[in-house]
Amino acid sequence: MTVIAIDGPAASGKGTLARRLAQHFDYAYLDTGSLYRAVALEAHRTDGDAIKAARNVGKLNLTDPEIKSESTGGMASKISAVAEVRAALLDFQRDFAAHPPGNKAGAVLDGRDIGTVICPDADVKIFISADVETRAKRRFLEEFGAEGSDADYQAILAELIQRDERDMTRRNSPLKAATNAHLLDTTNSDIEAVFEQALKLISDKMTTT
Ligand code: DC
Repeated sequence: MTVIAIDGPAASGKGTLARRLAQHFDYAYLDTGSLYRAVALEAHRTDGDAIKAARNVGKLNLTDPEIKSESTGGMASKISAVAEVRAALLDFQRDFAAHPPGNKAGAVLDGRDIGTVICPDADVKIFISADVETRAKRRFLEEFGAEGSDADYQAILAELIQRDERDMTRRNSPLKAATNAHLLDTTNSDIEAVFEQALKLISDKMTTT
């Protein structure tokens, strides 16, 4: 079983990279942020109990279109600081890595604590980042396309700054690079270049183990 862990801040490009790698190697892919997002959305729409929602994560809809919005991301960041929520999602993520659906030979997981907490023994760990302004621009284009105003961009930038701060300073499993993670900065690189860099890292690693 091969496990590739990709961590990084919001809108760093980790989802795009993880999806591409999973496709390339025919591995299963888990966007762990979507678990926190689905839990936050469920709690928001029902009784506000994020712990209960996290304990039922298997039943949540991970493809709800509202999941992708930056406001859901903000709610997810808040509930993700709750120790019981993280604990409830731990087994689901580890189980995915140990037994990737579809009998795949490997799994790619992306998130904040994959290399540090969820899969500390992952075969390859990548920590991907970019300037917050670059990430805000990407998220703005994703969410608003050509329709967005400068106020929309500024709101997203402010949200991301706040989210980075919350994700990096929380007590439980804060966002940080594992000591043995490879660091990739995507500020000035397009996805193709980042993908090629990651492929090289992974094949170097596979041939030396
Ligand atoms: O990666 P994302 O933007 O979809 O994640 C949404 C929020 O979920 C993020 O701000 C913090 C939380 N999260 C987490 O705490 N741990 C993870 N492994 C993934 C996401």
